[in-house]
Amino acid sequence: MAAESTTSTTTPVVGAGLPLKDRVAIVTGASRGIGRAIALHLASLGAKLVINYSSNPAPAHLLASQINNSSTIPHAISIKADISDPAQVKSLFDSAESAFNSPVHILVNSAGVLDSKYPTLADTTLDDFDNTFNVNTRGAFLCCKESANRIKRGGGGRIICLTTSLVAALRPCYAAYVGSKAAVESMVKILAKELKGTGITANCVAPGPIASDMFFAGKTEEMIQRAVDENPLGRLGQTDDVVPLVGFLASDAGQWVNGQIIRVNGGYV
Ligand SMILES: NC(=O)c1ccc[n+]([C@@H]2O[C@H](COP(=O)([O-])OP(=O)(O)OC[C@H]3O[C@@H](n4cnc5c(N)ncnc54)[C@H](OP(=O)(O)O)[C@@H]3O)[C@@H](O)[C@H]2O)c1
Repeated sequence: MAAESTTSTTTPVVGAGLPLKDRVAIVTGASRGIGRAIALHLASLGAKLVINYSSNPAPAHLLASQINNSSTIPHAISIKADISDPAQVKSLFDSAESAFNSPVHILVNSAGVLDSKYPTLADTTLDDFDNTFNVNTRGAFLCCKESANRIKRGGGGRIICLTTSLVAALRPCYAAYVGSKAAVESMVKILAKELKGTGITANCVAPGPIASDMFFAGKTEEMIQRAVDENPLGRLGQTDDVVPLVGFLASDAGQWVNGQIIRVNGGYV
């Protein structure tokens, strides 16, 4: 199965009256997979986009060009930053503010890693455990911390972290990954309460299996088929199955949803 077949090709159209017009959104891990689809969707809703990546610039630059070519006003930039490094997260926000001459309104933290060896806890190396927690937990913490201090107060502020339905499904061979995401779900629920009075909401979107590079990495055909068979809707999730929920949470219509973990998985758990 080719990961490219899951890539969204929606071309954003920017105009007046769009729900995220004049809002600045940072999407981490937006060069590929779910983050890429979210960036395209938020751009189609009118947001000015910061497309973050960590290692591979080409797809991030291409996505920014695709968004900018669809509009007379450039409204996407791509920025390299490792979200596990506090200085780089700070500079990601600095770049967003200076590029668009505006505070950031929306943070979607989609950057993440999964150990594609699928080890049991007993077989998980300390290096792999540390790498998983560095990106998934420390990275989410740093993005949430910077967001809590810098996202615009007074309405429209949004923090959305991608976690996983595996926190509910608790399948063997995902101990470090699920632990790293469960921590984020707890932090985000507390953060939502701590942001009382700011108008900023904080939520997690927790997909089930979604056809992306991360999902296919290291999986046998049998593992992929099992994910299909486990799903009441009889297929893998696609990146575009996740984006409408993120768009809703990011918009004013989503303002009453706060401190929640929303599992979006076709009903497999
Ligand atoms: N796919 C699924 O089945 C699934 C299910 C549930 C939850 N999720 C979660 O959804 C999110 C997106 O997953 P995906 O499937 O889209 O993953 P993906 O296709 O592997 O893409 C990962 C993205 O994260 C970026 N990234 C990795 N490490 C980073 C770091 N330290 N700093 C900044 N960016 C970094 C990558 O950039 P580079 O390419 O430049 O390294 C890439 O853009 C993840 O948090 C994942 O845990 C995925």
